[in-house]
Amino acid sequence: MREIIDRLYNERILNQEEFGRLLETTDEFDMQYLFKRAREVSKKHFGNKIYIRGLIEFTNYCRNDCYYCGIRKSNRNTDRYRLSKDDILKCCENGYELGFRTFVLQGGDDPWYSDEKLIDIISDIRAKYADCAITLSIGEKTFAQYEKFFRAGADRYLLRHETADSEHYKKLHPSDMSGENRKDCLFKLKDIGYQAGAGFMVGSPYQSTENVVEDLLFLKKLKPAMVGIGPFIPAAGTPFDQFERGDLNLTLKLLSIIRLMFSNVLLPSTTALGTIHPYGRELGIMAGANVVMPNLSPTSVRKKYMLYDNKICTGDEAAECRSCLEGRMKKIGYEIMVDRGDFHSEENEAKEG
Ligand code: 5AD
Ligand code: FES
Repeated sequence: MREIIDRLYNERILNQEEFGRLLETTDEFDMQYLFKRAREVSKKHFGNKIYIRGLIEFTNYCRNDCYYCGIRKSNRNTDRYRLSKDDILKCCENGYELGFRTFVLQGGDDPWYSDEKLIDIISDIRAKYADCAITLSIGEKTFAQYEKFFRAGADRYLLRHETADSEHYKKLHPSDMSGENRKDCLFKLKDIGYQAGAGFMVGSPYQSTENVVEDLLFLKKLKPAMVGIGPFIPAAGTPFDQFERGDLNLTLKLLSIIRLMFSNVLLPSTTALGTIHPYGRELGIMAGANVVMPNLSPTSVRKKYMLYDNKICTGDEAAECRSCLEGRMKKIGYEIMVDRGDFHSEENEAKEG
């Protein structure tokens, strides 16, 4: 197994069979070795610095009905909210003071926010915070829409592909959504010039090792700037509320594998990881992640953005979340960085020498 890990370290890719074996190994020593090599790579690129992104969950209305998601439109238990432009700007102001230089606007797929409304919000943030990155995470749109938001000042876009296998995709989503369109959106975003983030849930219902290998190979093709992965966690009131949650060790292993495949990719240690283990986010960093995404949403709405059950940090003020994470990172020898933390593609790096 060490030979496979070393080859992944050196060549940044494995064949399907080797990926499969690595994903299925449970040997504690092999896993520790994998984490160590991945950590080496992130240390080389980022030192002991961790980037922070301020997450603003601005609407939990959603027109989609993904079977896993707590804010799916059919979930009658969800108490719906929308933040006004002023609310959103206040989150940014608060975040800026706390040292955030990236604002992530995330929401359900909510048509109430028309293109005009979104453009107005994006351009206002752009005008007020010239030194900040604006990241959107608002689902599948057309090329023209993505382009308009880019022109208004958005720099980055997060759209997890969820699973690269179209059959598996169909098991996670109703028939009006397709994996092909979702993947296509990611290529559009990259074409326009966004730093694009893909990703998937680890241990989602019906996910096989082969599916995960396909996810890795899809990422290799896409070459995203960011990869968001976290364990699947059942959400009350969804068709998947009785399924088992994703596995901690498999999630950590995947963080390491992704770090070895893409040495300088932005790799968050997610809230979902922090939800399934009290030190999940620290373990994620020790496995090669280099980003944390504390919540900047107003405390009044936090509990309503429940993508899954028992989500952490829903009672804390942004400042508390920020200092909590800073303390957690310090304890394991890392520091939070006040910086936009842009992605620099390896191709450019190679050119720059
Ligand atoms: N468990 C874990 N992650 C989830 N997401 C949605 N529902 C769940 C869940 N039940 C993830 C999806 C989505 C991101 C915003 O949150 O991958 O893209
Ligand atoms: Fe909203 Fe899945 S239910 S994106």
